[in-house]
Amino acid sequence: MTPVSHQTYLEYKDFTAISPEVFSCIARIMKNARGFDLDGYKDQCIKRRIAIRLRATNCSSGEEYCELLRRDDDEVDRLQKVLTIHVSQFFRDPPMFDKLCREIFPLLFALTGMNRSGRPGIWSVGCASGEEPYTVALLLKHFFPDELGRVGATILATDVDEAILKVAREGIYGEERLREVPDEFRREYFLERDGRYQLVYEIRSLVEFLQADLTQTGAFPESDLILCRNVLMYFERSQQEVILHGFADVLRPGGVLILGKSETVVGSALERFEPICTVERIYRRA
Ligand SMILES: C[S@@+](CC[C@H](N)C(=O)[O-])C[C@H]1O[C@@H](n2cnc3c(N)ncnc32)[C@H](O)[C@@H]1O
Repeated sequence: MTPVSHQTYLEYKDFTAISPEVFSCIARIMKNARGFDLDGYKDQCIKRRIAIRLRATNCSSGEEYCELLRRDDDEVDRLQKVLTIHVSQFFRDPPMFDKLCREIFPLLFALTGMNRSGRPGIWSVGCASGEEPYTVALLLKHFFPDELGRVGATILATDVDEAILKVAREGIYGEERLREVPDEFRREYFLERDGRYQLVYEIRSLVEFLQADLTQTGAFPESDLILCRNVLMYFERSQQEVILHGFADVLRPGGVLILGKSETVVGSALERFEPICTVERIYRRA
């Protein structure tokens, strides 16, 4: 028999404490308290994360943890934080942003005349603390100032977690989030204060942050470019398909979708997108 480490045993024990009944109880509490819908997420992934909180709160059973959630609003916050992973970075995956600048932005501005509002609509989905939409804003401001001045651009950034959006709106980051930021951009667009860096207002004001749940596909905004990177991977394949169809429905003709490096268009949604660059996971609405 393969020896089981103490840690693995504990994880296994906590994991089995989350019975289907406990899982639906937690799902109900999260839905009622925060409007956060656990349906469609990968089961194992969610259970592993709930188990982390079970261990951290020293609850001896799933039922005890449900009780704790019912009476302690702060624990609801902590659980939501664990369930939604907020890792992000400015210029995360630089080759993709290079392609965005060289090929996709020019295409978007060329298409602009065709959409009703006259300005490209860009939507960053699952934006976490804002690094992704702000990178888009930085690139537009730096490389497309004329187009930005003439036609403008709407950059909408959404996330299910209101707490992380507060961080995003402030736009203050530690060094670790800025590792890929070119020196020129650091000098021009960030203000250093006590070892932390705040994006200048000129860039922050280009992005609008709103709380929204990706599983509510009926309320998606019309867009020319959708970035949904490192978010789909937390969902079951069937839910990924539903979301991808939702994106195809709201992308205007010629509109572009960008996924994360380990994500791809799946199932029947394949008929609605054609690849522009498979390496960088860039697709055009078919
Ligand atoms: C790993 S971060 C990705 C951040 C950024 N897109 C990037 O690639 O750097 C995943 C984000 O997806 C958000 N998220 C998870 N479920 C969501 C949902 N149902 N609706 C909207 N956002 C969601 C999480 O709150 C988290 O901020």
